[in-house]
Amino acid sequence: MERLRQLVGEMLLYCFVVVLLTGGFLAFFFEPSGGTVVYDGAYEPLRGTFMPAGFASMITLSYDVRGGLFIRQLHHTAAILLGLLAVCWVLIGRSRITFLALGLVSLGGLAGFGAADDLLTGTFLGRVPVPVWYGLHLLAALIVGAALVHSSREEAARQPRTAELVGLSLILTGLLLYVL
Ligand code: HEM
Repeated sequence: MERLRQLVGEMLLYCFVVVLLTGGFLAFFFEPSGGTVVYDGAYEPLRGTFMPAGFASMITLSYDVRGGLFIRQLHHTAAILLGLLAVCWVLIGRSRITFLALGLVSLGGLAGFGAADDLLTGTFLGRVPVPVWYGLHLLAALIVGAALVHSSREEAARQPRTAELVGLSLILTGLLLYVL
């Protein structure tokens, strides 16, 4: 069970690196604002439409930025895998830090949808301003990152990483990102 917990912890770390790198790319183009703009990008059906600036920047990311749609999908998929692995971690680890991580990954995901201003629009959660969601999104990610690094160091002090563990975690994370 120790080895399994170490494997899941390691996969969480690599999955978080993918979320962080794809998130960093998205953040470069994303406009966390609730103001209204007229979309004038490549996506014909929406050209000339009034919409929230955050949503417009997400459409621009998908259709005007090379690789933008792929990175958006990878960020989304890595976020889902992060959530699934956090659930496994809780079931195996049952420590306070695993529950904290699961709670924050869920909050990070919800805040991601809030920031993207698409899924929550029209619900009471959609009334929360986009910059607030985006701030929560980055704060949750920061704490998740700190929790994962802290527990990974504790784990490595208890049981040093082996090349097999690192190799297996990388392959399994890559495979799951591919199939999800
Ligand atoms: C706990 C870690 C994180 C989780 C669970 C997470 C999850 C999500 C989710 C579910 C979305 C909505 C995707 C969609 O609409 O299709 C999203 C959007 C976004 N995330 Fe994250 N994310 C995390 C960390 C980060 C980090 C560290 C950054 C930046 C450095 C970031 C930047 C963004 C941006 C800019 C968007 C909006 C653009 C878009 O929807 O494509 N995220 N995130």
